[in-house]
Amino acid sequence: MNHSHKPAVRLNLPAYPFAELERRAAALKEAGKPVYNLSIGDPDLPPPGFVVEAARRALDEDRAHLYPSSRGDSDVRRAVAGWFEGRFGVQLDPDRQVCILIGAKEGLANIARAVVNPGDAVAVPDPAYPVYGRAGCRLVECQQVKVRLEPESGFLPNLDRIGGVKLMYLNYPNNPTGAEATDEFLAELGRFTDANPEMTVAYDMAYGEMCFNRPARSILEFTPNAVEFHSLSKMACATGYRVGFAVGEPDRISALVKVKEEIDSGAPLPFQRALSAMLDAYRDGVPPQDLIHYREIFNRRRELLVNALAKQGYDVFRSRATFYVWFKVGNDELPFISRALEKGVLFTPGSGFGPGGRGWVRASVTVPDDVVSATVSVIENLS
Ligand code: MLT
Repeated sequence: MNHSHKPAVRLNLPAYPFAELERRAAALKEAGKPVYNLSIGDPDLPPPGFVVEAARRALDEDRAHLYPSSRGDSDVRRAVAGWFEGRFGVQLDPDRQVCILIGAKEGLANIARAVVNPGDAVAVPDPAYPVYGRAGCRLVECQQVKVRLEPESGFLPNLDRIGGVKLMYLNYPNNPTGAEATDEFLAELGRFTDANPEMTVAYDMAYGEMCFNRPARSILEFTPNAVEFHSLSKMACATGYRVGFAVGEPDRISALVKVKEEIDSGAPLPFQRALSAMLDAYRDGVPPQDLIHYREIFNRRRELLVNALAKQGYDVFRSRATFYVWFKVGNDELPFISRALEKGVLFTPGSGFGPGGRGWVRASVTVPDDVVSATVSVIENLS
C-alpha cells in the first residue's frame, strides 16, 4: 500500500521555475525533438583549465577527504579578502567578514534564517531571482514586501517606498533584466542601509564579473553594513562546482556561519581551492584572460539575439551586463513561450520572476553559438 504524504504547508509553492523548465526540456528531448534551452543561466563553456586543475590537485591533499568547515578554509578566505581588496579597494577581515558558501544560492537562502524571525517583513524585488521570495521569505515564514522594478527607472528600486523590513534582497547586475546599479543608486543604498541598522541588506553580486562596459561596484564600497554574495558559477562557468562566498558586516556573517554549522559542513575543499585559484588569477582587480574571453563570447551572442529580436519589433532592454536578454512581448507572453517551445526553443517566461515580469521574456545565451544561431532563425519565423 502506498502511503500518501502531505508536505509541510510552507512547501505550498508552485514548482521552482527552473526545475519545471528543465522537466519540459527533458520531455522534448525524450520525444526526439531538438531542444534549444535558453531558459537557464548555466554556461555551456568549460571552466578555465587552471581552475579545474586546482580542484583536481586538491583531491590529493591530506585533508581533502575530511569535513570542510562551515565558514570555509582559512587560506581560501584569505584569497577572498585579497581579491576583494584588489577588485574593490575594500579591506575585509578573512576571519570575521568572509564565509565560503555552497554556491551563492545557499547563502542567499540561509541569510534569511540568520537574520529574520517568523512574521517579519522581507523586501523582495519584483521581478527577481525566485530564491529571495521563496527560500528567503516563504520558507522562513515571513511577509513578502514586493519592491517593483520598472524599466523606466532602469530596474532600480525606489528606496523611499521601503520601510519596516528586516531583510532586503537586491541583485545587481540583475537577473533577469541585466540592469546594472549606478554609482548614485549604490551611494543612496549605502545611506539607506546605514540609516536602518535593524535591516539587513543582502546584495547578490553573482553576476558581478559579467559586465561588458565597466566593472560592477560592490555595495561594501558604500557601506560596511551590508552582506554581499559572490559565486564562482558565473565567473568561471562552474555552476556545478557549487561554491561562492558571502562577505560583509561581521555580526551578520557570524550569524550566517552559525546557521551553516547547524545545517551543512561547508563546501568541499577541492571546489574551495578552485575558487581560490580563480580569485588569485586576478591582477590588480583585472580578471584572467579566460574570463575576458567568456565576456566576449557572451556579449557577442547577446548582440546576435538582441538584434534579431529588435528586428522583429520586440522591445529589448538594452543592458550591458549578464548573459541574459530581457525583452517585452506584452500580452503575448505565454503564447510566445509556447510558440517558441513548439519550435524547440525554451525561454523563461518573465512572470516566473514575479508579477513584475509579466509581459516579458528572458533568454540566456549560455548555449553554444550554433544554438544561438538556430534560435535567431526561430525568432525570425515565430509570429
Ligand atoms: C538562472 O537561470 O536564473 C540561474 O542560473 C539560476 C541560478 O543561478 O540558480
